[in-house]
Amino acid sequence: MSQLKIGLAGLGTVGAAVVGMLERRAGEIAARTGRTVKVVAVSARSKSKDRGVDLSAVRWYDDPVELARDPDIDVFVELMGGEGDPARAAVTAALQAGRAVVTANKALLARHGLELAKIAEASGGSLHFEAAVAGGIPIVKTLREALGGNRIGRVSGILNGTCNYILTRMADEKLAFDTCLSEAQRLGYAEADPTFDIDGHDTAHKLALLTSLAFGTQVDADSIYVEGIRSLTLADLEAADELGFNVKLLGVAVRTDEGIEQRVHPTMVPKGWPIAQVSGVTNAVAVDGDAVNLTLVGPGAGGAATASAVVGDLIDVAKGNRGFAFGLPVSALEPCERAPMQRHGGGYYIR
Ligand code: HSE
Repeated sequence: MSQLKIGLAGLGTVGAAVVGMLERRAGEIAARTGRTVKVVAVSARSKSKDRGVDLSAVRWYDDPVELARDPDIDVFVELMGGEGDPARAAVTAALQAGRAVVTANKALLARHGLELAKIAEASGGSLHFEAAVAGGIPIVKTLREALGGNRIGRVSGILNGTCNYILTRMADEKLAFDTCLSEAQRLGYAEADPTFDIDGHDTAHKLALLTSLAFGTQVDADSIYVEGIRSLTLADLEAADELGFNVKLLGVAVRTDEGIEQRVHPTMVPKGWPIAQVSGVTNAVAVDGDAVNLTLVGPGAGGAATASAVVGDLIDVAKGNRGFAFGLPVSALEPCERAPMQRHGGGYYIR
């Protein structure tokens, strides 16, 4: 049986969970793919930290770019995060060498996704990022493949587990914002810099990727209106509650006559809507297509959920399912015409 040899950069919560899942599911994955899928080399900040997984037989690199260039790996898994180097340099190096890359790095893709997809197309490599959006919810493949026959009018959702965790805990337990944020950090949901979560940038990065997949447009994170949850108080949530709404941080992208409107902000969601009832670290993505309307709900952050998406991509790579990162060749993606943001009354509602 042939091997799919993985070089994995980043052994935090998600990286360790990926190694553990590949170990535990080795037999099933081999049966599904006809290959043994194995981590053979890693890079991480600390070599000595106990991560609860067996890394005794792997090669260690200090520099993830060197790991990405290792001629004895087939696929490079990037779980370091950050939109700049070393993640960008390492992913670029792996793609230039014609490798498959699997990444959970939404910040990198929101800024440089097109450039990286172009490199993959030119070199015969491939770029896979199911784990970059909504953790364990398979929304990337859903938009790119399963709903490919639809004309999509809107994609919207709860895309940040940390914010949803904070908003739910504040509303249900009457806790202060800071207490809930500390809990989310302790549970391993938050970004290394949690301002990315609470100021809405993480949601915006994910929305930028969904917009491209849903509408066949170039990724354009800069055109997103972004407002986070930092200034929300318990009193705001209670007032919304009395009026029949739950407050959720939503990412919304809508096709309009003037172009694509993309926005991220705290939103008054009617309590009867399925998305209003999504609580804790759970994410939800609603897709309005001309043939199919659906809402996918599932875990949006944390080691196991994100590892599930990474391993799903590795199974695709092992089976030879590559394709275009954003569903179309980069040259066929339309520029993302920016539509001005529509305000609905004094606050932000969704209708
Ligand atoms: N910090 C992110 C979240 C992690 O809370 O959703 C998953 O992208």
